[in-house]
Amino acid sequence: MNFEFTEEQKMIQQAAKDFAERELLQDVIERDEKSEFATEHVKKLAELGFLGMMTDPKYDGGGMDTISYVLAMEEISKIDSSVAVLMSVCNSLVIWGIETYGNEEQKQKFLRPLASGQKIGAFLLSEPEAGSDATSQRTTAEDKGDHYLLNGTKNWITNANSASTYIVIAQTNPEKKHKGINALIVDKNSAGITLGPHENKMGMRSSDTHSVMFNDVKVPKENRIGEDGFGFPFAMKTLEGGRIGIASQALGIASGAFERALKYSMERKAFGTEIFNHQSVAFKLSDMAVKIENGRNLCLKAAWLKDQHLPYGTASAMAKQYCADMAMEVTTEAVQIFGGYGYVREYHVERLMREAKLTQIYEGTSEVQKIVISRSLLK
Ligand code: CAA
Repeated sequence: MNFEFTEEQKMIQQAAKDFAERELLQDVIERDEKSEFATEHVKKLAELGFLGMMTDPKYDGGGMDTISYVLAMEEISKIDSSVAVLMSVCNSLVIWGIETYGNEEQKQKFLRPLASGQKIGAFLLSEPEAGSDATSQRTTAEDKGDHYLLNGTKNWITNANSASTYIVIAQTNPEKKHKGINALIVDKNSAGITLGPHENKMGMRSSDTHSVMFNDVKVPKENRIGEDGFGFPFAMKTLEGGRIGIASQALGIASGAFERALKYSMERKAFGTEIFNHQSVAFKLSDMAVKIENGRNLCLKAAWLKDQHLPYGTASAMAKQYCADMAMEVTTEAVQIFGGYGYVREYHVERLMREAKLTQIYEGTSEVQKIVISRSLLK
């Protein structure tokens, strides 16, 4: 067993850290306050190759491994999770889904511009009444011979506005239940698509989240991914990798808060000494460090399994559940260490705490991960 990163992995980690500190940090608080999308930063992120970092270079991707992706996601999430979630959805859900299950024509047409970062993608699974209960899709993709007719509403869609390419999960044969569901690649500019207002969220406020309405949207038959009825296993398989991305995001949120709290504890004085010298603070930091190390190991293990082409669904659920819950605990402790300063905007930790909460909710709540993990125990 080798715990050492390769030179290439370390280089990618450093590049992500530099980008986050140089570009994202300067206005992250302001963008959060204004719920403002990081248009220019996302362009640079794309130019650096972070949106299709794991895709085969023959489709204009970066050809990197999942370990590198975890390292990059952690660094970017330490500073700005709104940008990190865009990166995760593009890499893990949209691009991976098309690269793994799309046909050659779909790869040439849709994958290339996504992997090279010219286009952004979004993954449309959640609905007003189908969040955790993902088989209960109400959006319909009626088979009209040479095309599907899409009708329905998707909720909480990350990148809904910034994306050009959607993967939409919809029901074609309701009598077949989840075996009647399809995954369709949809051009966001198609006639009949409208967006709800930008969601005014508690955290990750500058990530663009909207509901998306489909009203008789025509989707060519050739845009279906896989065989008729493959949409639900497609979504589940795709989410297995997505959960590595969000676990790494939660890890980054926790380690970002930890690094800030550690630094503060060595500067801030109370009762005649730096607060780190008080055991009540040092022990908190020690507990935080152990939890972060556990979380990092879970993320890297899931990534390693994926890179070895071994089953990683349970490992990614474990990483996602642990890191999301851990990020909530660690960021709460970070706010506590900062005291009153932790509760105001300019010290970042209150924002990280708000961001941590979302990692317990999206790409499967912590409870959904427990369903996945507990079912795997029976096998
Ligand atoms: N891989 C392949 N197939 C799978 C699978 C997997 N990982 N998991 C389940 N399936 C298959 C099952 O084998 C079963 O097929 P058969 O009927 O042929 O046996 C079928 O799918 C149904 O599976 P279940 O009976 O396990 O389904 P369930 O209704 O009990 O639900 C669940 C399971 C784990 C709760 C699932 O619904 C789920 O993951 N829900 C959460 C959805 C989610 O994560 N949403 C996030 C939205 S995306 C997002 O947030 C992106 C963003 O913008 C940030």
